[in-house]
Amino acid sequence: MTSLEFHRHLNLQAKGVAERDAILANPGFCDFMTDHMVDICWSEKGGWHRPRIQPYGPIELDPAAAVLHYGQEIFEGLKAYRHADGSIWTFRPDANARRFQASAARMSLPELPVEYFLESLKALISVDGDWVPSEPDTSLYLRPFMFGKEAFLGVRPAKKIAFYVIAGPAGPYFTGGVAPVNIWLSENYSRAGKGGTGAAKTGGNYAASLIAQNEAYANGCQQVLFLDSTTNTFIEELGGMNVVLVYKDGSLVTPLSDSILPGITRDSVLVLAEELGHKVTRRPVTIQEWREGAESGEIVEAFACGTAAMVTPIGQIKAKDFTIGSADAVAGELTLSLRAALADIQYGRSEDTHGWMYRLDG
Ligand code: PLP
Ligand code: COI
Repeated sequence: MTSLEFHRHLNLQAKGVAERDAILANPGFCDFMTDHMVDICWSEKGGWHRPRIQPYGPIELDPAAAVLHYGQEIFEGLKAYRHADGSIWTFRPDANARRFQASAARMSLPELPVEYFLESLKALISVDGDWVPSEPDTSLYLRPFMFGKEAFLGVRPAKKIAFYVIAGPAGPYFTGGVAPVNIWLSENYSRAGKGGTGAAKTGGNYAASLIAQNEAYANGCQQVLFLDSTTNTFIEELGGMNVVLVYKDGSLVTPLSDSILPGITRDSVLVLAEELGHKVTRRPVTIQEWREGAESGEIVEAFACGTAAMVTPIGQIKAKDFTIGSADAVAGELTLSLRAALADIQYGRSEDTHGWMYRLDG
């Protein structure tokens, strides 16, 4: 496969150094976006074509574009980390590229070659590398996405597709940093069903989660936990993160389900845990098991994990009729050590023995 030759149209209104540095000093989570974006077109006839780097800005769409009506859209999320020597790296982007292909297949979108995915990230960093912050726990969040832009209201896969990469500097996703987060148990709403799109990173899953996420906020929680839609008993995942439970014998358990997103953070953290000698099991887990396990002392820690959230301790699970965990829960020891081990690899502070890091600059 030949590599892409990006046409460069630089942003003449790019932010100045002082303005950018002020944003990087206090980035929030993508409260600001960088100066450029990557854009590649696909058509049934021409395949992938017209790779461009252009100024970040509004996208012009025909009002009949497929994505606006039928939600034919997928995305990815990964981060660029600045290492102490100034170099810029990302974490397992090949895994994101492959998951992007799997999401595309599920949503009847064309598969972007892994090489094109990687080259697009590098292309954006080649113009916006100065936007990668260097403060502890900060990064540049990279958001590749693809959607049907063909103007046609019949229901069938679009024949014209757009792929973009945008990016925004990010601090911790949760404002409390590594303080435990409280989670609302959604009993009325499901995120995904059997045979549905739960394992794809597609906007509709997140749209479906918003009503439950609002319930979470109304109940003083930062995220929502979904159960399986068939029996309403097995835990699946949070609105934007996977879940891992830690048992008192040091073993880790995470839900096995084909309607949850196969998280790359979760996979990586579980590899690290196994290497530290912890037993790791992927199996169906009921909310009842979590409730009883927490009460009996069998389950001693729980954490959320994802690119945005990293590894974040879970404090309480709140449901309509019960609560798991105590209000003064502190971050678990294993949770914190796995978070640190992962961060050390991502920020280049420890050796990357797995070949997970991928250089984006230079
Ligand atoms: N589950 C959902 C619904 C997510 O949105 C995310 C975040 O991307 C994850 C899990 C974790 O995936 P990853 O670790 O690959 O970011
Ligand atoms: C990510 O972690 O990349 C996500 O897509 C989740 C979202 C909460 C930002």
